[in-house]
Formats: sequence, structure tokens, C-alpha cells
Amino acid sequence: MKRILPILILLLSSCASQKHYEPTLKSALADKFYIGTALSPWQLTGRDSLAHDVITRHFNAIVPENCMKSMYLQPREGEFRFRDADAFVRFGEEHDMFVTGHCLIWHSQLPDWFFVDEAGRDVSPEVLRQRMRSHITTVVGRYKGRIKGWDVVNEAIMEDGSYRKSKFYEILGEEFIPLAFQYAHEADPEVELYYNDYNMYFPGKREAVCRLVRELKARGLRIDAVGMQGHIDMFGPSIEEFEASINAYAEAGVKVMITEFDMSALPSPWHRSANISDTISYEQRMNPYTQGLPEAVSAQWNERMMQYMQLFIAHADDITRVTLWGVCDGNSWRNGFPIRGRTDYPLLFDRQYCPKPVVNQLIEELTASNKRARSKRK
Ligand code: G3I
Repeated sequence: MKRILPILILLLSSCASQKHYEPTLKSALADKFYIGTALSPWQLTGRDSLAHDVITRHFNAIVPENCMKSMYLQPREGEFRFRDADAFVRFGEEHDMFVTGHCLIWHSQLPDWFFVDEAGRDVSPEVLRQRMRSHITTVVGRYKGRIKGWDVVNEAIMEDGSYRKSKFYEILGEEFIPLAFQYAHEADPEVELYYNDYNMYFPGKREAVCRLVRELKARGLRIDAVGMQGHIDMFGPSIEEFEASINAYAEAGVKVMITEFDMSALPSPWHRSANISDTISYEQRMNPYTQGLPEAVSAQWNERMMQYMQLFIAHADDITRVTLWGVCDGNSWRNGFPIRGRTDYPLLFDRQYCPKPVVNQLIEELTASNKRARSKRK
């Protein structure tokens, strides 16, 4: 009995024993946009049956949280490792999902060799172009016809609209972006191509990204969508700020994808007051919900998440996919960023994989409005 008790408690407190909510997120949103989640390799095995159930029942789009980044795919020049990425794509196919690749060119999670020669000096523009072409051609070519869209360039523009001073920029200048799009298109002419970035609601960044979209198009290069990451919190951005950017990108002539959505429920260090001298009280203040989210905060979180979902639904003509950056609170990167070791609550499913109130509310409202629309058509 001693051994069985914890399992019993876990089962009773989990959603496994509850009636499954029908319809699911993906069926309720079917005529609006794809609803996606980011996955890690361990989630593909199916061994975690609760995770597997939520992923396959509620989501119809997936993106790899890490395994397709260049440091994992090509840790040494010419040495590609595709095991996890292959499993990821296979999983998407088996479950008939919209599979996105993330990401081809990013200054972060990049192998050390990418920018330097054997002596550790920066490579020439010619060599960097050749390395970019080889990486993109090999990776995009491998999944040709199986991956539906790629985040081609990630996080290259700053909030004020200037270019990030990454090594790509230092060595190749602004040209590295059009080159990346060109190489990706050559490797798979059918695949959709995206520019993806965070803080996309900042006016400076918005203008620069719109300019970039127009320039790529003017040069005859393919760009299908702009990815707005959306790692937001309870303090910002406002719905209006976010909406202004959705409108601006759509007007620039591309679709919009909400690519990495999550909303921290915790105090933000970016909004803290100065002069924090007592470290322990600071740590407690910044990590206040280790024992669970208080009702009132949970209600505020669900309300704000609902407002965002309603915003996306209102723009469903322009938005083709909304992807959450993770499945449940327990495995979100936000538990470790920007402060390590916190207990955060940023996703649609809680630590027991139970849907949060916003999920059920969303499904109920959509089901009712879908029903009304159907009976009007009759
Ligand atoms: O691979 C190592 C593993 O060998 C080691 O045992 C483990 C120990 O901590 O670390 C593993 O690497 C971690 C990696 O995720 C894979 O789990 C890194 O430490 C960790 O820093 C890395 O974080 C990822 C982060 O990108 C890196 O910048 C997050 O999981 C991932 O959610 C996050 O995703 C990015 C998007 O790609 C782009 N937009 C922003 C978003 C959030 O930062």
C-alpha cells in the first residue's frame, strides 16, 4: 500500500482520471489557424503518456525547442547529427501535424567553429557564405517536402530597428539575411520561409522588419511570414501594442505567425525597483509562487491569456499559426529565465498536464460561435 499510495494520489490529482474535454483546442480552432507547441526529444518517445496525450489531442503543429539549432545539427564542420531532428519530423508526420523547422541562422546556440578558421581568426565573407550555404542546403534539403516552413533567420534586428551586431552581421553586413533566404529557397522551392524575432511590438523593430520584408520581396526573394515570438508577461506588452504589429506585418505583405507564445506569471526583473540590498528577500519576492499560483493571480493570468487568444482569433485572416513555447508549465524555459530556479506558470497546461481555465473557456466559446455560424449558413 505504501508504494501504491503515491501513484494513487498522482492519478487522482492529475487530469488522467478526469473526463477528456471534447472538442479539443485544435478542432475548436480548425477554421482559424494551426495551434502548435514546441517539443523536446524526450516528449517524442511517448513514454510520458500524459504529455503525449496533450500534444496529440490538442495541437496540430510542432516546432523543435532546441534540436534543430546549428550547434546540435552540425557540432563540427561537415559532421551532421540528425537523430533527434529526424525523430521530431517523423513524429509530426505520424500525427499529421504542420511541422516547422527552427532555426537556420541564429547568432545563439551556434557551434564555435562557424565563424573562425583553424587559427581562430574570423573567416572571410566568402568562407562564411559558403558555410551558411552548406548548412542551409544540407538541413533544408534533408527534410525537403516534409517540413512545411523554416525560421530562416532568427533575432537579427534590435528593438531600435538597428541590426544586431552578430558575427553574421560583422562579417557579411546586412546581406546575410537575403543570402539565407536565397539558400533556403534553392534547397526547397516549396517550403515556406519566415523571419522570426522577439519584442516584435517595439515600434523601431516593427518598422525595420517591415522594411526587411519589403526589400526581400522587391529582390524577388521568398518570404511567407513574420514570426512574432511573444514571450510576454503580466506587465506588457499591451494588446494594442501587439495588435499594431500584427497589422503592420500583414500590411507589409506577409502572413503572421505567433511562434513562441508564453506568459510569465511572475514579477519581472525588468520592472523591479532599484537598490535591492537584501538578496534573500529579493529572491523570495521574485519567486513568490513556489507552492502554487494564488487564485487571484491565476484569474488575472487566465483573463490576460484569453484576451490574447481573442486578439489572435480576431486576426485569423492574417495569422496562420499560434505556437506555444512548450506543453506544460513544468517544462517551460521560463522557469530558468531571466532568473534561474523559479516556479513559473506560463503555458496553457499546468504541471499535471491539466488544461487551465482559459483552455476550456476558449473551446466553449469557439464551439458556441462555430455552431451559430453553421446554423446561420443552413
Ligand atoms: O544540451 C545541454 C545538455 O547537454 C545539458 O545537460 C543541459 C544542462 O543544463 O543543458 C543543455 O542545454 C540547454 C539547452 O537549452 C537544451 O536543453 C541549455 O543549457 C539552455 O540554455 C538551452 O536553452 C534554450 C534557449 O533557447 C537557448 O538560447 C531553451 O531551452 C529554449 O527554450 C530557448 O528557445 C529560444 C528560441 O530558440 C528562440 N527565441 C527565444 C527562446 C527562448 O530563449
